[in-house]
Amino acid sequence: MGLDENQRVVGATPVGTEDRASASKAVRDMFTSIAPRYDLLNHILSLNIDRLWWWRTARQFDEILKRPGMKVLDLCCGTGDMTFALNRRAGPSTTIFGADFSHAMIERASQKGSATNLRWIEADALSLPFSDARFDLLTSAFGFRNLADYDAGLREIVRVLTPGGQCAILDFGEPGGWIGHAYRIYFKKILPTIGTLLSGVRGPYAYLPASVERFPAPAEMLERMRQAGFREATWTPYTFGVAGLYRGFK
Ligand SMILES: C[S@@+](CC[C@H](N)C(=O)[O-])C[C@H]1O[C@@H](n2cnc3c(N)ncnc32)[C@H](O)[C@@H]1O
Repeated sequence: MGLDENQRVVGATPVGTEDRASASKAVRDMFTSIAPRYDLLNHILSLNIDRLWWWRTARQFDEILKRPGMKVLDLCCGTGDMTFALNRRAGPSTTIFGADFSHAMIERASQKGSATNLRWIEADALSLPFSDARFDLLTSAFGFRNLADYDAGLREIVRVLTPGGQCAILDFGEPGGWIGHAYRIYFKKILPTIGTLLSGVRGPYAYLPASVERFPAPAEMLERMRQAGFREATWTPYTFGVAGLYRGFK
């Protein structure tokens, strides 16, 4: 990749990284370092609302999940909670793949559940080891924001979806008004302190609010989705916009 092209890339940039390769490596190292306590921290820091968000997302896709022979990919699956939320609603002949580039995360996911229709794969979202048009539904919960190149990530999602296939990206947002004010205090001050104390690792919980701040606002993200090839791109806020679900059809 030439320098000019590199400079135009929009994606996660943890402190100290200046290109796609170093950003990806820093993100992978960061999640690997918190994998052992990731679930506990997630539930504590989100006050357990994360479970509601995964359930709410999975519920949107009942029709696909129950159709015979469907293939679903949960990208950046971490320890698999979104994957399991999908699997609980899936029909018997639906296959669900959970993919993540952190070995430690995938290992924990596979220890939590190994139903016969679940497949766990160590893979980079920017270069997926799947042929074109393989999946009817692709989800990603709180993972997409961490990609080192959002447009490349969207293009890869489009590539692996079947024509008419659906994409669902659940991620944090930045609410406005007094809720936004309270949320920012929690997210920028309280959460990094508790996260660092409980995980014993300093970087990741300072990176989290910084990455949310850098993530494109809904209007821009929807435009990027359209440019990547999605139609009917929409965003639905969850919990006053603290999180939200991007959807689109290939
Ligand atoms: C915040 S966690 C979310 C995990 C899970 N989806 C959830 O909702 O709890 C983000 C995950 O994205 C993974 N990730 C980040 N960039 C990735 C990439 N380029 N390819 C694959 N996984 C990636 C990280 O390893 C991490 O497990």
